[in-house]
Amino acid sequence: MFQETVTILESRQVADNVHTLAFASERIARATRPGQFLNIKPNSSLDPLLRRAYSVHRIEGDRVEIIYNIVGQGSAIFASKRPGDPLDVLGPLGVPFHYEGEYATAVLVSGGVGIAPMPVLGAALAALGKRVINIHGARTAGMIANDGRLIDPRFATDDGSLGFRGNVVGALGQYLEQEGAADLRVFACGPNRMLSALGGFCNARGIALEVSLECQMACGIGICQGCPVEMGTGDRKYTLVCTHGPNYDFRDIILDSLPSVH
Ligand SMILES: Cc1cc2nc3c(=O)[nH]c(=O)nc-3n(C[C@H](O)[C@H](O)[C@H](O)COP(=O)(O)OP(=O)(O)OC[C@H]3O[C@@H](n4cnc5c(N)ncnc54)[C@H](O)[C@@H]3O)c2cc1C
Ligand code: FES
Repeated sequence: MFQETVTILESRQVADNVHTLAFASERIARATRPGQFLNIKPNSSLDPLLRRAYSVHRIEGDRVEIIYNIVGQGSAIFASKRPGDPLDVLGPLGVPFHYEGEYATAVLVSGGVGIAPMPVLGAALAALGKRVINIHGARTAGMIANDGRLIDPRFATDDGSLGFRGNVVGALGQYLEQEGAADLRVFACGPNRMLSALGGFCNARGIALEVSLECQMACGIGICQGCPVEMGTGDRKYTLVCTHGPNYDFRDIILDSLPSVH
């Protein structure tokens, strides 16, 4: 983990209320593994005081990129940043996706800015020789940020403006009808409602599902105890999303115990 004041390379809007911010950091780029996140200070003043957590969306050489929605004070400040501005970044944080192992196909399911960790994960899986499919959903086509890096993408929109009409669970069902569910793992990131529905779907079919959780975070490094999620298995009652997560086997956690950021 590093704390660095980096320089912003690019700040732009890529879809309806979807923005990206890119900066240069050789150390963070080199150290980050799929599914890890950064805790970023919106500005140097005390208001807002807390850092904001963002998954690493892209790594190219020394260039690191996040993707985000404007939902409050911190993200609105990020959207006002310009190339050359400084940014105080802490990371990489959290435990990466557990994506190694013996299986043939990885289906990466994302909703909204849950797309964030998928390009880095997809590239790592492809390097291991896995077949990779992305299923990405949004309310409408204009909210989909597709920069061409999702491997074998299938889209789902609530209004049918792109791809499957309906949600990503329906699109996954359609995929499995065509391709079968043998030797497959699902990795997912998105709103808790989506993860909950996907968890029910995968549990009912015995499909392994790993979810990347988002919740309110303050310190991001296990000190404030502000990000507990209840465990559904094992001896431990709670874990901290920032240090033990954010990536969990869906069966190990009680998703409803997590305060939602959505
Ligand atoms: C691991 C992880 C990865 C994420 N990745 C992404 C991503 O890639 N893209 C994306 O758009 N969003 C992501 N999020 C969600 C993102 O962190 C929030 O949307 C963001 O913090 C919103 O900040 P804001 O100031 O705009 O919103 P606001 O709602 O104004 O502020 C929310 C933030 O305030 C702080 N806060 C407020 N109340 C409390 C409290 N009671 N206790 C502790 N802290 C509090 C926290 O820092 C919280 O994150 C991720 C969250 C997590 C945990
Ligand atoms: S955010 Fe402080 S312990 Fe997790």
